Amino acid sequence: MKVTVVGAGAVGASCAEYIAIRNFAAEVVLLDIKEGFAEGKAMDLMQTASLLKFDTKITGVTNDYSQTANSDVCVITSGIPRKPGMTREELIGINAGIVKMVSSSLLEHSPNTIIIVVSNPMDTMAYLVHKTTGIAKNRIIGMGGALDSARFKYRLAEATNAPISDIDGMVLGGHSDKGMIPLTRLATRNSVPVSEFLSNERLEQVAADTKVGGATLTGLLGTSAWYAPGAAVSSMVHAIATDAQKMFPCSVMLQGEYDLNDISIGVPVILGKNGIERIVEINLSDVEKAKMQESAAAVMKTNKLLEI
Ligand code: 2OP
Repeated sequence: MKVTVVGAGAVGASCAEYIAIRNFAAEVVLLDIKEGFAEGKAMDLMQTASLLKFDTKITGVTNDYSQTANSDVCVITSGIPRKPGMTREELIGINAGIVKMVSSSLLEHSPNTIIIVVSNPMDTMAYLVHKTTGIAKNRIIGMGGALDSARFKYRLAEATNAPISDIDGMVLGGHSDKGMIPLTRLATRNSVPVSEFLSNERLEQVAADTKVGGATLTGLLGTSAWYAPGAAVSSMVHAIATDAQKMFPCSVMLQGEYDLNDISIGVPVILGKNGIERIVEINLSDVEKAKMQESAAAVMKTNKLLEI
């Protein structure tokens, strides 16, 4: 499998690193517009290969899309990250132009690729890729839910004082501080509902901390996070590469599912060799349904700012 990662900043480099470390891809091309930057990151990463025992070949290129030709999966991380105090939605002006240009350049050289969108505001950027490329909806996947769910599990493990491997849980809805919907009702510790271990108040706190997971890190780091976003992307690419048929919440184009239309937003999907193999419709409670509609309304409001 050949994977291209566009943007060699912290998130893009972390995607390349975790994909390579898992040793399932033959090649990762890291592309950046800054002269020599992707080449440097790729060289540094390749110098970890003998130590970490992976054979994935990582190549860095400066804005040369011909080198990305015939990629099976392309990951778009380019654009500006948020600074402390900024919302993901505030990035739309600059990032929309970049994501539009990047996706069309990628498709010129890899017409059959699956595209994973990471750039923010992610749901709107995924929607933009749908609207401007017109490729099949199973081939455009927004990364947000996999990351937000990992943050949810981290918070649940912390609150229950359990090992993370005991914890399961999902976050649906928009990848935004207000729009995320951590499904506390369905979260479990080894099949036991977490509500058996935590008071309602503590669970609400876990959900609140999960929703501002990205903002908390931006406040601490001065820029947006990269390890967990990179790990989330690598898990999604791995599921596609191995045709794993694994379920992740991802931002996908909905056509009636969850009573939503013409919007890309986080819902559970099965990932396999075709990208999105199918959308999973789970029974949400009335409260969760209302939150989903509210989250969708906010994403649609941001989508309206796109000039397409
Ligand atoms: C985050 O939440 C990058 O949007 C990403 O950290």
